[in-house]
Amino acid sequence: MRLSRRTFLQASLQASTSGLAAAILPSVILPGRLLAAEEGGVTLTAREVPKTLPGAVGPSTLWLYDDGKNDTLPIVLRTQRGRPFKAVFRNELKEHSTIHWHGLRVPYAMDGVPYFTQAPVKPGESFTYSFSPPDPGTFFFHPHCNTVEALGRGLAGVLIVEDPRDQGLFDVEHVIALKDWRVKHDGSFEDFLTDAGAAKAGSFGRLRTANGQAVPVLTVPPGARVRLRILNLDSTRIPQLSLSGVRAVVIATDGNACDPFPLNAWRLGPAMRADVGFVAPEKAGAELVLEDVFSSKPRPLAKIVTAGQGLRSTRASLRLPPAELPVPDLKAATKLEFSLLAGHADPALEAWAKEMGATADEICLTQKVFWSINRQAWPGAAHDRKPPPLAGLKSGESYIVELFNGTPHQHPMHLHGQTFRVLGSSERDVPVHWADTVLVRPKERLRIAFVAGEPGDWMFHCHIIEHQETGMMGYLRVV
Ligand code: C2O
Ligand code: CU
Repeated sequence: MRLSRRTFLQASLQASTSGLAAAILPSVILPGRLLAAEEGGVTLTAREVPKTLPGAVGPSTLWLYDDGKNDTLPIVLRTQRGRPFKAVFRNELKEHSTIHWHGLRVPYAMDGVPYFTQAPVKPGESFTYSFSPPDPGTFFFHPHCNTVEALGRGLAGVLIVEDPRDQGLFDVEHVIALKDWRVKHDGSFEDFLTDAGAAKAGSFGRLRTANGQAVPVLTVPPGARVRLRILNLDSTRIPQLSLSGVRAVVIATDGNACDPFPLNAWRLGPAMRADVGFVAPEKAGAELVLEDVFSSKPRPLAKIVTAGQGLRSTRASLRLPPAELPVPDLKAATKLEFSLLAGHADPALEAWAKEMGATADEICLTQKVFWSINRQAWPGAAHDRKPPPLAGLKSGESYIVELFNGTPHQHPMHLHGQTFRVLGSSERDVPVHWADTVLVRPKERLRIAFVAGEPGDWMFHCHIIEHQETGMMGYLRVV
């Protein structure tokens, strides 16, 4: 028997508002735990957890955010746009840490950058993050110091911000969080940062996973309108996504609704997200494969199988309600240019940092410098030795930034606290879209625009973490 769309959606809505990872039919899941505002939020304890990853024979020492309830890898939380969100961060690691809410336009004091927006949270200490997410979408969170190891060991979580406007648009959604692991066969980790990797495209993990599994099999009802929330939580790899067997479109970039465009080999750099929509085949037992088609031999990442009662879809469009973000005034915008270049430690900056009386932070520190922005390399990569800003901006004013990549490698560039419009590229057709992280290819000049948000020193860096930690990091000062 076919389940009517309405009955199904009501059941699904009920279950999602009851605060559970909602399993309505065995085959239908709204991923994540919805945090009702009145619940008082969530406690996220960062701790070491031994876990055997698929393909390894022994346990790996992972670092995870534990809320005591969620057993997915990584943790998946849901909240609602505009509602108060609260997370108590407890640090049970052996080093200091913070939580950065990647892509969320949170108040500066909540941005989770140690020494910049808050003091580092020392082992045994806690810090409470609270904000009301202004934008809906697929986001994630991670620490912002020794990120190469922390993220390498899995310290990240997914945060879905629901949009009341798109309730009922999809029958089912799944999270697909991609992450490779630099583990050996015995489960022990290889070095997270290598000179050879950091100076080139990064050090890749041999063991590839989605949701912590080799190739997860996700089920959807036949005929269902499906939303996949795909996140690249890896520090290095840049997959090119393709979904065989259906007409799949990208409906949101970095969580922000876009004019749907074919998924068709969309490159998802580290930290980037793509929401993908499609209508599942009407037949039960159909199998769709999400693949990385980067190399000539496509690599399956996840499988989607139709099962259970069929749904009938009448609505044609998969389009999300439009993003509601500050729209830059391109005519009045001030132009800035940032060149991504090779770099070396700048003695003047080092001296300046010393003069400022800053002390080196042992654990944030990487002494090597391979990269720079506008020939300015972060001195020693530690946050507590603050170089001058890359540029000064005025809150509320519009900016057009040209990003030039003068290196032979791709760089997924991320700007904290502002969602920017990707306008176009000198080298290729890019759909105009909103983003917080954008992949800049070699020789490319890519133009982005945004309205400067809240005053603060907002980080701007490559999200290939080995590049970030060896110089390709700076900040924009908004006053
Ligand atoms: Cu996702 Cu500054 O980082
Ligand atoms: Cu880079």
